[in-house]
Amino acid sequence: MDSVVVAALKKKVLIKTYGCQMNVYDSARMADVLAPLGYGPTDTLDGADMVILNTCHIREKASEKVFSELGRIRAEKNRARERGVEMIVAVAGCVAQAEGEEIMARAPYVDLVFGPQAYHRLPEMIAAADPSARHPVVDTEFPVESKFDFLPEPSAGSNCSAFLSVQEGCDKFCSFCVVPYTRGAEYSRPVAAVLREARSLVSQGISEITLLGQNVNAYHGEGSGSGDWGLGRLIRELAEIDGLDRIRYMTSHPLDVDDDLISAHGEVPALMPYLHLPVQSGSDPVLSAMNRRHTADDYRRVVDRLRSARPDLAFSSDFIVGHPGESDQDFADTLRLVSDIGYAQAYSFKYSARPGTPAAQTTEQVPEAIKSERLQSLQQLLGAQQLAFNQSAAGTNQDVLVERHGNRAGQLVGRGPYMQAVHFDGPERLLNTLVDVKILEGFANSLAGEVVTGVSVPGGEPIERAIA
Ligand code: 5AD
Ligand code: SF4
Repeated sequence: MDSVVVAALKKKVLIKTYGCQMNVYDSARMADVLAPLGYGPTDTLDGADMVILNTCHIREKASEKVFSELGRIRAEKNRARERGVEMIVAVAGCVAQAEGEEIMARAPYVDLVFGPQAYHRLPEMIAAADPSARHPVVDTEFPVESKFDFLPEPSAGSNCSAFLSVQEGCDKFCSFCVVPYTRGAEYSRPVAAVLREARSLVSQGISEITLLGQNVNAYHGEGSGSGDWGLGRLIRELAEIDGLDRIRYMTSHPLDVDDDLISAHGEVPALMPYLHLPVQSGSDPVLSAMNRRHTADDYRRVVDRLRSARPDLAFSSDFIVGHPGESDQDFADTLRLVSDIGYAQAYSFKYSARPGTPAAQTTEQVPEAIKSERLQSLQQLLGAQQLAFNQSAAGTNQDVLVERHGNRAGQLVGRGPYMQAVHFDGPERLLNTLVDVKILEGFANSLAGEVVTGVSVPGGEPIERAIA
């Protein structure tokens, strides 16, 4: 009997994740679904019995990667076949959802194609798959049942930080965005299910949870008795879980920042003082063309109110340059907004026309060369702000959640409250604990510090004992 189990556990699955944190979460849950079927994780294509590409469709480049990766996988599948192994090749995620037909046409050796709402049905799909046939199993429906009701308990692995998906899909229909089409309508998980998953993660050693949703602050989960709960109330309840030291959430829409969420930022110490609040543009005409449904000043006001509630709150954001119709003046307004807000970090992208979205159909596309120029100057400004923010940390003490070893022997790397990677020297036993670190220097993408000895931080280990 034992030997049967061991043999069954020998199967290896490679899950390659592209795109956003939601995909990272989904990939982890796919691994949870596959574990009872005997699939253990592997990092290499060589020797894998199954490979899943969990794909992203948000920008053109992200989609293209799938097809180039599939070429490599095909060669490996052929090599495996020569050894008598039928490798199962699966394409999951948003490209699968949006371009299932194209995948089947361009890559007929793909065995499974399934969207982000269908992966709880992986066991049935695998059973139906025939890797030697040329008929992939396709599941890109938006099922009536929620996948969350069918997923097994999450496994935290050996980490101290985890993602928890609380909301999915989007009803905002920004002009440029494929998410409402690939992830479907907005859906919030019930409060009880979220709390259960959070408690399970904390009981497995997780001390930081990032709540995920495409539009996470639109969260309105069914509560117990008293109607729907907003995100602020959910965060307050999660903060009561013993052992949960840090709560974060992403990604937010400025329109859905409500009073309760703002006051939660002021009142819940576990809620980290760092917020990803995409604005996309600082120009009112562009924001209107983007269907963002707020002005640049509305955004400034939301930021001001959040900062009044929590003065040490720092912001990150997303920007798109070269949305159809964006003029030099519009772009200048974006730079002005960036200067006004002062970001700790940000992502910026050239507008990329996505099939089926309203912006892709307009004729006023901005030339590529202008997009590149604008992206460069925006990134220069954002980079300077990020460096200044990191340098301003020098001399402060930060609670650092220690995540991994550094590249150098004896070096550890963790995350401070503002998500910066903090490098410092310390003993291995500090891994997965909260440590008080004095920041010595800030760089473009990280901080360097040293452990503060003799001080313990809430939920952390007294350092004088921890130091070897
Ligand atoms: N082109 C460029 N950037 C995009 N994003 C979303 N859609 C597009 C697109 N079509 C960016 C937005 C969003 C982030 C996740 O990706 O800034 O907030
Ligand atoms: Fe896309 Fe806009 Fe929804 Fe964000 S709010 S997921 S950008 S449609």
